[in-house]
Amino acid sequence: MSTQKVKITFSGSGRQIDLPVIEGTLGPEAIDTRSLSSQGVLTYDPGFLSTASCASNITFIDGDAGLLYYRGYPIEQLAEHSDFLEVAYLLSFGELPTSEQKAAFVEKIGHQTMVHDQMANFFHGFRRDAHPMAVMVGVVGAMSAFYRHSADPFDPAQRESAALRLLAKVPTIAAWSYKYNIGEPFMYPQNRFSYSENFLHMMFATPCEDYQPNPILARALDRIFILHADHEQNASSSTVRVAGSSGANPFACIAAGIACLWGPLHGGANEATLKMLEQIGDASRIGEFIKRAKDKADSFRLMGFGHRVYKNMDPRAAIMRQTCHEVLNELGLNDDPLFNLALELEKIALEDEYFIDKKLYPNVDFYSGIVMRAMGIPNSMFTAIFALARTAGWVAQWKEMIASPEHRIARPRQLYTGATRRDFVTIDRRH
Ligand code: SDX
Repeated sequence: MSTQKVKITFSGSGRQIDLPVIEGTLGPEAIDTRSLSSQGVLTYDPGFLSTASCASNITFIDGDAGLLYYRGYPIEQLAEHSDFLEVAYLLSFGELPTSEQKAAFVEKIGHQTMVHDQMANFFHGFRRDAHPMAVMVGVVGAMSAFYRHSADPFDPAQRESAALRLLAKVPTIAAWSYKYNIGEPFMYPQNRFSYSENFLHMMFATPCEDYQPNPILARALDRIFILHADHEQNASSSTVRVAGSSGANPFACIAAGIACLWGPLHGGANEATLKMLEQIGDASRIGEFIKRAKDKADSFRLMGFGHRVYKNMDPRAAIMRQTCHEVLNELGLNDDPLFNLALELEKIALEDEYFIDKKLYPNVDFYSGIVMRAMGIPNSMFTAIFALARTAGWVAQWKEMIASPEHRIARPRQLYTGATRRDFVTIDRRH
């Protein structure tokens, strides 16, 4: 623990405040400002660019070096050697499982993949063309009505059963959101399949014929799940923590995370990136869109580019690009025009001084849409798949938050810039 302090001096009054400096195991040190409010002073940081909202042992990101560790393990190694359920175990419990622990975990998940049959009724309350994320927010939130014995966040056993149920059932809910969209019957999970094979089965199988997931595509999807599993205090994970800080049930908290992830600046960027590539259409128009992205008068942004933390290549983007190659080769689509357009756009953008100056690199969402589209997954499901994978990180962050001795309800303050005190004016005297 650091013994350093910082001294704040108010130049006007000369008032001084000493604050402790605290250090983590990796990354920047932090000024502990908790005592400021009792001294009548606040910090101002809209968007939380310079705010550590919590202490966490789960994920470490170094945005300048382009590093991402889950519980200390580099994402590149996990993407290559691990699988999603093993990563979900690591995120939640802090260590890679032994073979016995993994077998038990996989079996527990496998026996929780079905949802209460009455939950199928919820889907029929939506329009057929409802966005899958709208359905997922609703149905995941409704899980608390069916799994009441896993809903008390202050009971450690219920926390674990809620985490298992969410990890196991969110893929079923996501796949059923797609099936409902296209008017096909729901496919029940099959425990003979792996986690990602099961998802492909529930997405693409029909009762009319046998379905065997393509192992290359299942492995690629599993890697996509790993890359999206957690990312420290991003907007949706912070949403889950804030919702959970009030003692809300875990299903409501994850539904809040899904809602936040849906935004095009966050998890919705993969869907927006593909729409942007389809809008650009041809490499000859890349310059026009790069110009628009640089024009402050134009709200257009290059989707899949830029990141609050990464000011270097998002390590997930490089792995996603490689996965793209593998899937397109497997499917004989290596001349996929959108992938070639994305490669050309990345090349041009990375050579453009605006993007260099603002340190804008491809993020995890730049290639993920191309991979999923090549696998036959529609645009509208891209963010639902992001939410499926991020459920592993959300439940890990939620469990860490609720079990922390520093757990308190999240209640930020504000810098008030409104009207000073004034007396009521009757309507006849208003003008
Ligand atoms: C995810 O937080 C996470 O970890 C998120 C995530 C996760 O795993 O949880 O990594 C997943 O959400 C990835 C990000 C996906 N979003 C996009 O691809 C949407 C496009 N990118 C952005 O809109 C933007 O880059 C953000 C939202 C990702 C980051 O926004 P910030 O940190 O608030 O940065 P900013 O908007 O203040 O931008 C800084 C400057 C601005 O220019 P100036 O005002 O300084 O002149 O860079 C410019 C921005 O205009 N800029 C872009 C740009 N992104 C930032 N200009 C053009 N195109 C872009 N994509």
